[in-house]
Amino acid sequence: MTDFRTDGAAAIEWAASYLERLDDLPVLAQVKPGELSAKLPLAAPEQAEPFANVLRDLDELIVPALTNWQHPRFFAYFATTASEPGILAELLAATVNQVAILWRASPASTELELRTVDWVRQLLGLPDGWHGHIEDTASTSTLAALIAARHVTGRNVVVCSEHAHSSVEKAARMLGMELRKVEADAELRMRADGLELDDVAVVVATVGSTSFAAVDPVRELAQRAHEAGAWLHVDAAYAGSSWICEEERPSQDGVELADSLVVNPHKWLMVPMDCSLLWTSRPDDLRAAFSLTPEYLRTDDDTYSLSDYGPALGRRFRSLKLWAVLRCYGREGLQQLLREHIRLANLFAEWVEADPAWELCMPARFSLVVFRRNGTDEENERIVERANRSGDMFLSHTKLHGRYVMRLAIGNARTTEADVRRAWDVLNREARA
Ligand SMILES: Cc1ncc(COP(=O)(O)O)c(C=O)c1O
Repeated sequence: MTDFRTDGAAAIEWAASYLERLDDLPVLAQVKPGELSAKLPLAAPEQAEPFANVLRDLDELIVPALTNWQHPRFFAYFATTASEPGILAELLAATVNQVAILWRASPASTELELRTVDWVRQLLGLPDGWHGHIEDTASTSTLAALIAARHVTGRNVVVCSEHAHSSVEKAARMLGMELRKVEADAELRMRADGLELDDVAVVVATVGSTSFAAVDPVRELAQRAHEAGAWLHVDAAYAGSSWICEEERPSQDGVELADSLVVNPHKWLMVPMDCSLLWTSRPDDLRAAFSLTPEYLRTDDDTYSLSDYGPALGRRFRSLKLWAVLRCYGREGLQQLLREHIRLANLFAEWVEADPAWELCMPARFSLVVFRRNGTDEENERIVERANRSGDMFLSHTKLHGRYVMRLAIGNARTTEADVRRAWDVLNREARA
């Protein structure tokens, strides 16, 4: 069994030393599929073990099978940071184990969630009066938005860009809604001209698309959607955090017209996975789609339950980590980090552009660089595979107009200019190999 104080101190020590030695660990897990499974017992132990055994096996079994998302040279997908205040708040949230099914089940979770999400609304420069709450992921937030849209419009069609995140298609499929994908223009923005929206429940616009960080024409899409009686949902899961920097707000144009908006602080606002914020300018409509109170949950004082605004009844105390991060960084601390990530992305893009052996496929957007080495797709794929397998860095790829391109996304608080320089050196090394 556990001695909470002693084991707790050992766990914190483990966490601190893991964060300190990240640089010595490979970024991408170096194990083969099934390698960890082969080492894990097939059944749970009969007798209690000391917690020290768990920590020992964490080092021996689990760490080798980790892809280290906290590593300063993690540049794949959208890079993230679980900051120290957020990590500690996760421990405290588990300690008090709130199950916020309704207000009286956790006044603290309910009220802190409303307040912290409203703090973020203000930090990002979003409209007054919007109602915001926390879901686990953007997939759930978007699912909730689609449910609300179908509920209020009575229609069954979803429209999004060909570059929208797959979570939109998945939500439509889960709901049995028809999905219509719209072509993008040369800048990878969803085309707003010629849209037929008369039978459409919801248009999903993206600010910061997953592959290319493209920004759809939100204002135009919102106007078109509203003229046709459709709901406008904005997916700014990654790029929305950048609005904490005033100079990044041009990409927010038109978002004030949205019916709902998702931004993930677990992507680019230093909050540990998971924390997805869903705001709506139509809280009554969202509530109408989800509110359902069985007899056993009826009380006199329950005027306010956040479970009325989304799919889950039992809700984690996620606002505690958001609160800790916002307080321990402050607006200025977060702005500083995001500005540095954007600077580093632009610097990397300059190196690519200045080297005739490489091609910058589009200007750096937010903290994402899309580029390729001159040569075939196979050659580019081999460079990425070798760089990732070396453990020195981790980046991902996508296809642009049918061609294989590399994506370098900066989003870890530990990433320095030296890390970005090293990534560039590793890619050149592997290209020459
Ligand atoms: C633009 C965008 N939307 C939605 C998602 C899905 O996010 P989640 O993993 O929180 O469901 C992603 C994931 O990277 C994304 O890039």
